[in-house]
Amino acid sequence: MDALLEKLVEENRPFTREGRVAGYIPELAKADRDELGICVVSSDGRISSAGEYGRTFTIQSIIKPILLLLALMDNGEDTVRARVGVEATGKPFDAINYTDQALLSEHLNPMVNMGAILLCTLIHGTSYPQRLERLLELTRRLAGNPSLSVDEAVYRSEKQTGSRNRAMAFLLESCGLLHDDPEEVLDCYFRACSIRVDCRDLAHIACTFAVRGRRPPSGEQLFPARYAHYVNAVLMTCGMYNGSGDFAVKVGLPAKSGVGGGIMAVSPARMGIGIYSPGLDEKGNSLAGIRLLEQLGRRLSLSIF
Ligand code: DON
Repeated sequence: MDALLEKLVEENRPFTREGRVAGYIPELAKADRDELGICVVSSDGRISSAGEYGRTFTIQSIIKPILLLLALMDNGEDTVRARVGVEATGKPFDAINYTDQALLSEHLNPMVNMGAILLCTLIHGTSYPQRLERLLELTRRLAGNPSLSVDEAVYRSEKQTGSRNRAMAFLLESCGLLHDDPEEVLDCYFRACSIRVDCRDLAHIACTFAVRGRRPPSGEQLFPARYAHYVNAVLMTCGMYNGSGDFAVKVGLPAKSGVGGGIMAVSPARMGIGIYSPGLDEKGNSLAGIRLLEQLGRRLSLSIF
């Protein structure tokens, strides 16, 4: 597996230059576009990696499946479903899903920003910093990495330039869907997006979703298996935003991207995959990362279809 990953990284490295690093959060624009790394954790706990797999970057939207998982663990399926729908949006991650009709919970999806911002309100805790701490703690447990922390510079950068997310939170409030102080909720969301990870962390997290809540090789059950089913289904239909249909045909795995350049892909029962390459396509997904996944998927027959 190591040799295969090395080969695919080298073959796909030229494509890193076709992507563009996220510029709307100034701190993210500092990333090195030429980097490409991958880590795979198999269901029996074997780890393989290649390229810049140890480079750290901010998790960004890849926190959304973990946010959804914690909301499910805290409230159960029915409550979460009633507040944030599951229909694929076919829209960009920062789309404001509102025209002249009323904004209803069924118009939201946990994988795009409006749904994810609302999910922060479902996390249990006596304050927003405490909710964030619980989310960070769950992320550490899934990754098996107790040292994960928030990158304060990226957090501040996103907070300063986060007008669009601010607009979404206030719209949710005005439509009666968000009942807490929007600024506090956004603070939790911005910090959650700013957790620093590497490909190994993403691969370990993905692996827990692949093996239905267990952590290989010990088999410790970290969360109920039915929540892996729920999160994977939502990832499959909306994890790559308006690129989800294309990704389903090309790769055929539940996956989540982040504008930091990460992709987490779940190969049910087989493996978790973490990828990093900060050059993005026009939909905000890692360009070389998707190509690498596509080729790995073909070589290992990973598509679930
Ligand atoms: O909400 C934002 O703008 C970011 N913090 C997260 C967006 C993101 O990662 C979209 N993914 N491709």
